[in-house]
Amino acid sequence: MTAEVWSRPILLRASDLTVAFGGVQAVAGLTFTAHEGEVLSVIGPNGAGKTSAFNCITGFYKPTAGHVELRGADITGMRPARIAAAGIARTFQNLRLFGDLTVLDNVRAGMHVRLRQNAFDAVLHTPRYRRSEQQATDEANRWLDFVGVRSDRTAQVRNLPYGEQRLVEIARALAREPKMLLLDEPAAGLNHGEKEALLGLLRRISELGTAVVLIEHDMGLVMQVSERIVVLSYGKEIADGTPAEIRANPAVIEAYLGTSDEEAQDEAERIAAEFVEGVELPLPDLTDDAQEQAQ
Ligand SMILES: Nc1ncnc2c1ncn2[C@@H]1O[C@H](COP(=O)(O)OP(=O)(O)OP(=O)(O)O)[C@@H](O)[C@H]1O
Ligand SMILES: [Mg+2]
Repeated sequence: MTAEVWSRPILLRASDLTVAFGGVQAVAGLTFTAHEGEVLSVIGPNGAGKTSAFNCITGFYKPTAGHVELRGADITGMRPARIAAAGIARTFQNLRLFGDLTVLDNVRAGMHVRLRQNAFDAVLHTPRYRRSEQQATDEANRWLDFVGVRSDRTAQVRNLPYGEQRLVEIARALAREPKMLLLDEPAAGLNHGEKEALLGLLRRISELGTAVVLIEHDMGLVMQVSERIVVLSYGKEIADGTPAEIRANPAVIEAYLGTSDEEAQDEAERIAAEFVEGVELPLPDLTDDAQEQAQ
């Protein structure tokens, strides 16, 4: 399976990516690639630098060294809006929705880069403006259908159940029609049924031809959905392979077990057990843990 994914063209290449905060190198010379249309998981213990790597790729952090290329074009250090316009959309480890806005408006906000409107049309409410508004609403509804949001879409997004809010964030990212979607712990805080639905959704997104790169601690989900897995530890890639290869890689289990604090150690042992026992385990209910973990 790995060979098949590797033969696809490279979509994103991060080379020697480094970002440091004070004395801590959160990302320490990270090199990895993502291919067109693949489902790639980025895993690693807490603090391994996964979110920081996403932040470098999407322009939220300026890397202190290294490069990011999207289809061969250098996007290093560009601002988040430009990187989004270039085709990389993302969701956040902590939800970042506009709580007071409606569900629909949150998704429409994801589309602003593509709407053909100008200030003149907007102020005068020209037919062209009304048409594009209607188009945006229709499209937002289609994305909400696609991700499976069932709640009232005219409600303030903060009133939706947590699991649906996560789906709205994914819908907003998809509304940009990205080449690549980066998801930071999409399963955190979801119950078993919601995780199963997420698995189906990730597959549907992949069928659109969009590359999906997800950071995830839920190994059941990771092992089922990923074509390839990259493992980070202390800001570096320590392994890259198929789920079967990663599960059998002693360096990976060691990285999880090597963390020092006690709570992390418990989590690491649970994850390591999943590695050993494989994907047949029932999906663990991470609700409380995950809520605590969300930064
Ligand atoms: N803005 C920041 N300022 C200071 N330190 C930071 C910042 N962002 C990340 N770090 C540090 O960088 C390291 C990597 O953090 P990061 O959030 O990238 O890890 P992670 O792999 O996403 O972890 P988790 O699985 O817990 O989300 C940690 O030591 C963290 O404390
Ligand atoms: Mg993180």
